[in-house]
Amino acid sequence: MKRCVILSGSGVSEESGIQTFRGSGGLWEGYKLEEVATPEAFERDPELVLRFYNMRRKAVREADPNKAHHAIARLETHFDVMVITQNVDDLHERAGSSKVLHLHGELLRARSSQDPGYRVHLGQKDIFLGDLDPAGNQLRPDVVWFGEEVPAIAEAAGIVEMADILIVIGTSLVVYPAASLIHHAPLDCRRFVIDPCIPGSIPLGGWDCIQKKATEGMNELLKELIPE
Ligand code: APR
Repeated sequence: MKRCVILSGSGVSEESGIQTFRGSGGLWEGYKLEEVATPEAFERDPELVLRFYNMRRKAVREADPNKAHHAIARLETHFDVMVITQNVDDLHERAGSSKVLHLHGELLRARSSQDPGYRVHLGQKDIFLGDLDPAGNQLRPDVVWFGEEVPAIAEAAGIVEMADILIVIGTSLVVYPAASLIHHAPLDCRRFVIDPCIPGSIPLGGWDCIQKKATEGMNELLKELIPE
């Protein structure tokens, strides 16, 4: 079975009603995202940061996977598919994708602010000030903040290195190290990018650019990759 690797970003969830990062002007209630998504912000005003993530979690719970998530899951009928997503939502999983690597963590999980090894699934819960790990440390969202390391990046690079097909969808490719992953694809890998605004960092040659929204673009690509 050929290996198909998806590198997705917030644009794949846009048609599910979840705002992209930079599309919203990068602001939340007047705060720059960089001001609420950093370890420094959490130290300065943990309540504000927890409230921001509780709101984002609510939006994700209210959203449903869209046709692009479902099309990506359908690729598994013909390919060995690995989804590498920068998204912290669970819409790929809910659409049926079985192998999803969350580069930037998961909204539906919490971790200890002191012990990165202590992680819990939140279920229907949110995180509030005073929610502690067994050692008495405050819990925080299990997401990667600006300025923090991306622990899964080496694993992700290894996955892209094995790709026969690489599909980049709904990401501006401006956030590193995630953006550097496209350079790990082997020379003979087929490369596709789906985005209404093709990222400027996509090299000019060797890529099939589908300048469309995720649902329409995936529908078109599915017809090419899985002929009826
Ligand atoms: N379908 C496909 N792509 C879309 C759609 C859509 N319906 N709507 C918007 N897009 C595209 C935009 O053109 C843009 O290229 O999705 C991309 C969204 O880019 P960003 O907002 O920068 O989001 P992303 O690339 O996921 O951000 C990366 O930045 O803040 C951090 O950790 C956060 O994971 C995030 C990372």
